[in-house]
Amino acid sequence: MRILVAITGASGIAYSRRLVQALTDGGHEIKVVVSKGASKVAEAEGEPLPKSDYEESDFSAPFASGSHLADAMVVCPCSLKTLGEIAGGLGSNLISRAAEVMLKERRKLVLVVRETPLSHIAIKNMETVTLAGGVILPACPGFYHKPKGVDDLVNFVVGKTLDQLGVENKLFKRWGE
Ligand SMILES: Cc1cc2nc3c(=O)[nH]c(=O)nc-3n(C[C@H](O)[C@H](O)[C@H](O)COP(=O)(O)O)c2cc1C
Repeated sequence: MRILVAITGASGIAYSRRLVQALTDGGHEIKVVVSKGASKVAEAEGEPLPKSDYEESDFSAPFASGSHLADAMVVCPCSLKTLGEIAGGLGSNLISRAAEVMLKERRKLVLVVRETPLSHIAIKNMETVTLAGGVILPACPGFYHKPKGVDDLVNFVVGKTLDQLGVENKLFKRWGE
């Protein structure tokens, strides 16, 4: 699969690293775009960021056009600002433009949103993206798989994200296994 991974300034940069690693290991064609906000959060969290293939402002990147045959886009983690940009159809940077392209072309778009609690505005934005065909996947790990530490919690969220993309994975123990 050809997938764009956008990393934005919500807490949980570790999710993006694990996601990029899993997709790369799976032999998928991955491109990454990192927002300026993500760089600030990565610094605060002491997490290294995956290399960015495009500038956030680069509208000449292939993913800015529907004629580029991408299979999916994941925003992980997804800030409320980027959620709002996508819900509003603003396309003011490559991330929200590429997301708009995924929605208009009826391709897979997954937003791993992280914030708590949620305002009415955030909930309405999530509703809008859902009605447009996107998937809101809150960075909200379960505990029924008995996590031993942070790694297991990260793997749970990333595993659920890969499930949405249709990418086979064994990152977490499934109920009934
Ligand atoms: C350490 C840190 C943690 C943050 N965590 C979140 C978060 O979990 N969710 C969120 O929506 N915004 C969070 N923010 C705020 C966003 O980074 C900010 O709104 C930024 O403008 C998002 O821009 P971007 O979506 O272009 O990356 C955080 C900021 C900092 C500095």
